[in-house]
Amino acid sequence: METNPKRKLNSREVREDFPALRQTVYGKNLIYFDNGATSQKPQSVIDAINLYYTKNNANIHRGVHHLSQKATNEYEAARATIAQYIHAKHTHEIIFTKGTTDSINLVANSFGALLQAGDEIIISHMEHHSNIVPWQMLCERVGCVLKVIPISKKGDLLFDEYEKLLSSKTKLVSITHISNTLGTINPIKKMIASAHAVGAKVLIDGAQSIQHTKIDVQELDCDFFAFSGHKVFGPTGIGVLYGKEAILNKMPPYQGGGDMIAKVTFEKTTYNELPFKFEAGTPHIAGAICLGKAIEYLSQFNIEDIERHELELADYAHDLLLTFEGLHIVGESKKKTSVVSFVIDGIHPFDLGTLLDKQGIAVRTGHHCTQPLMDFYRIPGTVRASFAFYNTKQEIDTFISALEKAITMLK
Ligand code: ALA
Repeated sequence: METNPKRKLNSREVREDFPALRQTVYGKNLIYFDNGATSQKPQSVIDAINLYYTKNNANIHRGVHHLSQKATNEYEAARATIAQYIHAKHTHEIIFTKGTTDSINLVANSFGALLQAGDEIIISHMEHHSNIVPWQMLCERVGCVLKVIPISKKGDLLFDEYEKLLSSKTKLVSITHISNTLGTINPIKKMIASAHAVGAKVLIDGAQSIQHTKIDVQELDCDFFAFSGHKVFGPTGIGVLYGKEAILNKMPPYQGGGDMIAKVTFEKTTYNELPFKFEAGTPHIAGAICLGKAIEYLSQFNIEDIERHELELADYAHDLLLTFEGLHIVGESKKKTSVVSFVIDGIHPFDLGTLLDKQGIAVRTGHHCTQPLMDFYRIPGTVRASFAFYNTKQEIDTFISALEKAITMLK
């Protein structure tokens, strides 16, 4: 997977790899600034999906026949590619799931089965609903207590408040690496160390980070790391839960079915080893293989070049947006990337999003699945432009002109 030397990042050239970017919407060149919701796919991933269903489709881990073995090998090779990319110690620490939400639900149920009434779970005020609701459901089931780290108006976690919440009762800290709404990059390494000091485990929601920054799970020392394939240039319906071997081994399986068992009798069932214990039923085989291809595609580049380019885009957009009267940026952390969320006095985000769409520009409007965050800022929603490495400053210039036009129409 390591390609040496790495491919130079030239966003104009990179765009050529993404056919969806070469289309017009309402007669305008598509400008895709909704990468926080999902990313576009390179041709290599699209070709891999086609190839899988054209030539290699078979069920895995089940057949002695050629196709089954081929599909199994490719599925397991994808697992190894992902393990290497995030620097997991063992390939079997990579569990394929449906996505970040599914990964978090797996932990809430399986790790949650080890918790008791009175145990505490810490999240933050900037979490996506998928990192709030599974914990609330667990608290209702088991009697655990959910604690929430407050944030500042600029959109930073209040670290001192976080440390005050930690105690021997804390069993898990579940925190987003990068906020999907604010773009804040949380100081997860420091947070993990503080949590470990009181004996708590840490889950990192990496849905918005793996496509933008280097992830080394051993260096971070996180206990769990969750991400979605579709946000990292792979297919929808596939994702990953990384977990440390020792913890995964202690956790009971979340779902029962084929492939996750060692032996089934009506009296007793014993479970398969990692990672299969957590992969009941026929998985999204094509999805996993093509997520592997997406990671291979991304590995051509230095992730630091991607990070730098996206930060430049976000800063450029931020500065231009601030020239608009009555426009307020939501999320002004000094440590942020790839996302610019904003509101404009007297204009509903939905109306703005609709008029931008008519000019070929895709942004997300609304609460971004972070309603508690919207309540904190006392707003119904924002307009969010979220960038990927194939976006350009020229696209931002076009977006700014389109925004001017839309505001003139709405005011
Ligand atoms: N979580 C995705 C977003 O932020 C869907 O848009």
